[in-house]
Amino acid sequence: MKYILALDQGTTSSRAILFDRAGTICGTEAKELTQHYPQSGWVEHDAVEIWNSQRDVARQVLQSNEISAAEIAAIGITNQRETVVLWDRETGQPLHNAIVWQDRRTADFCDQLRSDGRAEMISEKTGLVIDPYFSGTKLRWLLDNIPDARRRADRGELAFGTIDTWLLWNLSGGRTHVTDVSNAARTMMLNLLTLDWDDSLLNLLDIPRSVLPKVRPSSYQFAESTDDFLGQSIPIAGCAGDQHAALFGQNCTENAMAKCTYGTGCFVLMNIGREPIPSKCKLLTTIACTREERPQFALEGSIFIGGAVVQWLRDELHIADTTVAVAELASTVPDSGDCYLVPAFAGLGAPHWDPYARGTIVGISRGTTSAHLARAAIESIAFQVADVLDAMNADTGIAVKELRVDGGASANDFLMQFQADILQVPVERPRVIETTALGAAFLAGLAVGFWKNLDEVETIRQSERVFEPSMPSAEVAKRRARWQQAVQRSMGWQE
Ligand code: G3P
Repeated sequence: MKYILALDQGTTSSRAILFDRAGTICGTEAKELTQHYPQSGWVEHDAVEIWNSQRDVARQVLQSNEISAAEIAAIGITNQRETVVLWDRETGQPLHNAIVWQDRRTADFCDQLRSDGRAEMISEKTGLVIDPYFSGTKLRWLLDNIPDARRRADRGELAFGTIDTWLLWNLSGGRTHVTDVSNAARTMMLNLLTLDWDDSLLNLLDIPRSVLPKVRPSSYQFAESTDDFLGQSIPIAGCAGDQHAALFGQNCTENAMAKCTYGTGCFVLMNIGREPIPSKCKLLTTIACTREERPQFALEGSIFIGGAVVQWLRDELHIADTTVAVAELASTVPDSGDCYLVPAFAGLGAPHWDPYARGTIVGISRGTTSAHLARAAIESIAFQVADVLDAMNADTGIAVKELRVDGGASANDFLMQFQADILQVPVERPRVIETTALGAAFLAGLAVGFWKNLDEVETIRQSERVFEPSMPSAEVAKRRARWQQAVQRSMGWQE
């Protein structure tokens, strides 16, 4: 068998990517996903559309590359995390649209948890801060707001899942109700030490155990796909939240290695080894995927708006037709003209965690042009990443020596150079920037023996380019101080 099929179900699209044994991409198909915004701060997806689009792209990628299911050794799943689905176990039908990770509808309940003094206990058990971002309060909202849902849940008629679980359920024809430990770690219901659902957290959130999936390792034979999916059954042997998969795909399997994925949001993860270090700087402690029995942990800085700020300039302000044209426009000016854009469209994540922050542009003068705005937007991505890395350094006492980068916007040389400048650290981009999918493929391939061991997969990743910092440090300090002032102005706006 020649290939691993990675299913990458992201916030804006469903993708299927075929990798061969050398880790080369042999085919890709993608389908955009409809975004629903029923109210300000609410974001939903149609869970049936998620499954259909994922199934369709998987079929297409085989068809268009004339590859048969018999040539696929295993399937690996990676997915947008925290997004929740609640469905009927009998019919497989969702009871509601999926509530997406960006959705802020449970901010009030999160405030209440904080004012009830629950922050410390939640952070100790889960490694998370209290924020509507995580799945637990979203699931509670579904159980409270869908008529009859609680009673049906108590009778065992309903199943809950993050997107991995929803895909595994459908891929296995409704036979498998499982999640992997990395996705489970984002629900605010998993105890990081026992790696199982925690009864006191379930009580606090009022979640019945009966709706929850079983928790499994990320590299593991989860299920067989139905014959109907691709014509014959294939083992589903890898599953991880997208950021955890990217960390694995970047070979950040040792202490102090860090990566940033530039997608809709930006997610910086640093491997911190075998002990779950609690953060003093409002970072998250989470799971790093491993092949070994003992878990590994990571610190994470989640930035809600990364590449999405460039899409906003394209789609809402119409300053250019494509995101590439936005980047080109930004590079026509030498700097942002002291203009700073804080893309807090959905509040701010790490290290601020302010669900009430909103987008802010400061420093506009009569001479500010669309090019300055485009530049300020792209620079905001790098400033946010730098804030997170500062927090990581403060938490661990380790200054990252190099940042490994991936995801769509990492292809932008201007952004990567500016990132290296602002961090004053080299930024290293691999040959395959589809690292999320590659990580899921590695997890699946290792579980079925397609690749023998970690040493073998580590030879697959190759560096394409290293961006060395070149901005004078006084200039970096000046710009970062200006950025901090702008962030302060964006905070608390909607309180
Ligand atoms: O935590 C949310 C994250 O998993 C979403 O990633 O790439 O779909 O924006 P992405």
